[in-house]
Amino acid sequence: MISDRLQKARDYEANTHISLRERPAFHITPTAGWMNDPNGFSPYQGEYHLFYQYYPYSTSWNDMHWGHVKTQDFITWQRLPAALAPDTDYDQAGCFSGSAIQLLDGRQLLLYTGVAPASPQQNVQAQCAAIGNGVDYEKLSGNPVISHDHLPQGCSKYDFRDPKIWQEPDGTYRAVAAAFTQQDSGAVLLFQSPDAIHWEYACTLDASHNEAGGMWECPDFFPLDGKQVLMVSPMDMYPDGPGIHPGNNAVVLLGSWNPETMEFSRESLQAIDCGLDFYAPQTLQASDGRRIMIGWMQSWQSADAKPQGFPWFGQMTLPRELSLRQGRLFQCPVRELENYRGPAVVHKNVSVTASTALPEIQGRVIDMTLTLRPGQDCRWFRLYLAEGDGFATTLLWRPEEGSMEIDRTASGLPRDIANIRRFPVQAQDGLLKLRLILDRFSLELFVNDGQQAASAVLYTPQSAQGIRFEARGEMTMDVEKYGLIFPEEEKE
Ligand code: FRU
Repeated sequence: MISDRLQKARDYEANTHISLRERPAFHITPTAGWMNDPNGFSPYQGEYHLFYQYYPYSTSWNDMHWGHVKTQDFITWQRLPAALAPDTDYDQAGCFSGSAIQLLDGRQLLLYTGVAPASPQQNVQAQCAAIGNGVDYEKLSGNPVISHDHLPQGCSKYDFRDPKIWQEPDGTYRAVAAAFTQQDSGAVLLFQSPDAIHWEYACTLDASHNEAGGMWECPDFFPLDGKQVLMVSPMDMYPDGPGIHPGNNAVVLLGSWNPETMEFSRESLQAIDCGLDFYAPQTLQASDGRRIMIGWMQSWQSADAKPQGFPWFGQMTLPRELSLRQGRLFQCPVRELENYRGPAVVHKNVSVTASTALPEIQGRVIDMTLTLRPGQDCRWFRLYLAEGDGFATTLLWRPEEGSMEIDRTASGLPRDIANIRRFPVQAQDGLLKLRLILDRFSLELFVNDGQQAASAVLYTPQSAQGIRFEARGEMTMDVEKYGLIFPEEEKE
């Protein structure tokens, strides 16, 4: 049964027409209105589904629905009708973030946070389930399936959300969820179930202890290259550690997991993305074994700094392949992106001087790799992207200091929000490799094959297409650039 509220959202979607060129070419944006966190990123019946926090009727956050898309290759997505609307007494204040899984009988289960008013001032949060066929879903009559009765002592029913489900090889279902305790601030709880419907609390995996931010939102928990990763998005962090900025961050806690004793031992905490816009990432395991992550390419702190006149707001990052190398999280754009490359434009051994532009090196929908070789006297190297009409986004590398600065001050947002971030990068064997993915309204940077990533949205006019290089001291560079080509857009 489709409720009136869900039908209304679906009708609204059907009457919304946004042309392909008003959107990024391959980054996901909402079918209409507002989008935040990725939800339910998971394989289903041979494809990959992605849901998202969604308010179709305006470009601001409001009563949360779930939007829905699916893909076969992580680059080209098909839109599906809205999957969930806040239409029951236990979720009337919002269907918050959650996850999805294919059940053994072939149906798809969504596990999400139902937000319900407890008083005029406060909402309570509990975990609810809906089961469907990949398009239409029915909420379970027994909802919530993980209620406040399941919470260990000291955990608040007002902050209990964002369940992420998976199945163990022995068939047991497990889920992590974000919780809040007065003593310890954010914590991640582990639950288990024989059937994904009847749940029990198993243990607390880790907690902030007021040291790594307040509430930890959107947890994910998975093995990666011999270690165990607990991924969380802490609110209210202090800038303590490389790549960590004040406010909301997304981090990985790397450690080991002993399923016998149910103990997770944290060994390190690392920032996932050192740029300006990245939050609430979620992962899946692809059929070929790759662990793939997608994040919301936005920050809550700047979510009110909207571009003028856009019919949509909020984008996802490119899906990224994760790996661990030298004890660090590495992330690279999914390899399928390379299937969309046009002909290569290559310039080798370019000596960069005061201001250097190169033939055919420009554009806003591109995949470009720079290999930089600084001479002894190179003080800095600057790259101007999306330059024109007084706009530009710059990257500034200081080889001796080992620092990279991303600056989008002149990138079209008329609010005094954070526009600059600086983070450590190191040349390796005298080389620094920068891979830059531009997609109309964003830039994603991957340093040294994924050692660091940095994302930023850019809402400048598309006529700002320029790319330019500048250096102080000697700098030699190779450039390999591809336009990215999407035949659907050509047809429109
Ligand atoms: C993270 C978050 C989640 C919550 C959702 C609400 O961005 O705050 O914790 O479920 O957004 O839209």
